[in-house]
Amino acid sequence: MKASVTAHKDYTICKVDDRVYGSFIEHLGRAVYTGIYEPDHKSADKNGMRGDVAALVRELNVPVVRYPGGNFVSAYDWEDGIGPREQRPTRLDLAWHTSESNAVGVHEFADWCETVGTEMMLAVNLGSRGVDDARNFLEYVNHPGGSYYSDLRIKNGRKEPWNVKMWCLGNEMDGPWQVGHKDAAEYGKLAANTARAMRMFDNTLELIVCGSSNADMASYPDWERIVLEHTYEHVDHISLHMYFANREKNTANYLALNRKLETYIDTVSATILQVKSKKRSKRDVYISFDEWNVWYHSNKQDRVILEGAGGWPHAPGLLEDIYNFEDVLQVGLILNSFIRRSDVVKIACIAQLVNVIAPIMTEKGGDAWRQTIYYPYYFASIFGRGTALQLLVNSPGYDSVHGDNIAYVDASGVHNEEDGTLAFFVVNRHATETITIDLSLQGFAGGSVIEHQVMTHSNLEAVNTAKNQTEVAPKKGSGAKIDNGQLTVAVPPFSYQMIRVKV
Ligand code: AHR
Repeated sequence: MKASVTAHKDYTICKVDDRVYGSFIEHLGRAVYTGIYEPDHKSADKNGMRGDVAALVRELNVPVVRYPGGNFVSAYDWEDGIGPREQRPTRLDLAWHTSESNAVGVHEFADWCETVGTEMMLAVNLGSRGVDDARNFLEYVNHPGGSYYSDLRIKNGRKEPWNVKMWCLGNEMDGPWQVGHKDAAEYGKLAANTARAMRMFDNTLELIVCGSSNADMASYPDWERIVLEHTYEHVDHISLHMYFANREKNTANYLALNRKLETYIDTVSATILQVKSKKRSKRDVYISFDEWNVWYHSNKQDRVILEGAGGWPHAPGLLEDIYNFEDVLQVGLILNSFIRRSDVVKIACIAQLVNVIAPIMTEKGGDAWRQTIYYPYYFASIFGRGTALQLLVNSPGYDSVHGDNIAYVDASGVHNEEDGTLAFFVVNRHATETITIDLSLQGFAGGSVIEHQVMTHSNLEAVNTAKNQTEVAPKKGSGAKIDNGQLTVAVPPFSYQMIRVKV
């Protein structure tokens, strides 16, 4: 089977915002406790943070990490997580039916962000709390000193403000599962008032208002329209979330899900423009896709705790999806969509980073290792920075429940002008056919393949575990060659490829 791709130097989408390779840490399961933080671990630093985990996070070059939730934030009192540890209260977390020790709070998380070289993106509680909580938290985090909350921060050991720029106005407020769930108008008014107060403190903050929890919500996409009608002039991004699942064990349909993702992005983009026109506004609002990933492998095993029968455990192993090779293809496809929609998607966070539906897994007191999905995320984060190219892809396709003519070849391309390289990320969705791709490089001088990584496996269900950490891993590809401005590569069935070209 054959396919062709054309990449032209001047045919670009826009610069990919580095923050589309962001991630997320919630006080949920073992993301924090025995994930990033485990004071008794042999690799722990002086703050109790696991060095082995920090090293893997650094390797991913994660630009931004959203914190502290998620559903958790909707009943979270940030004051519980500051001050001397021994005086911090243990609270019941209603979102995940667990106990929260508060051993980690904003100080510990901020220090960890500095250690791993990432930026904080904080969420305020608009579920059980509101404007006051948001303005006080902001003052605590960002004011230099000389006020009640900033002096409290200094007393608690942090002199310099953290100057956090990105702030989420609550989380998934459309969801009835959310503590303090609201309807669109109610939330829109609260979010607008909160944003106004936060902007009175600092007009340059980047504020993110909640869009729908997913595109299957009954209130979608009216939710986006109504919320934006209340907040358009006060926010910079609207957040979208989507989780991917293959419950029916139908790989063809599963791998077509990024059609649904792109329709979701296109619909919300259209809604943004509709409200912009209605408001006769000059400003632009973008999309923060601040929760996305595969999530379904752990659903059954989590039920006991989530239904309350497990009591109120501290840091139980919740949402611990063990990812397989098929999920590598899915994550590669999702990231391709974000690169192709980089004109509107300016922030995206793989949910989450460690243990909880995450690319990094740990064992308490044991190893940290890379799950299968670590790799496509790694390749995109490291090599997907630059200008997204508007590729012309000509590939045979198939019909799926998510749309017709889903191209077997899904590709994205990024031009890094600084180091004079191109990176192509390619997924072959075909179950049995190797596809020979002729990729025409137009407007670029010269061209030689400098790196070719391939991920393929005979078993779609193959996984990495503590005992076998490298069952699914990339291998050096061979046979990609450039002749006369044309890159030719044969991509095996069900495979992920990353090809870098020096131009
Ligand atoms: O990431 C897990 C959960 O998924 C988050 O807490 C919530 O926002 C979403 O429903």
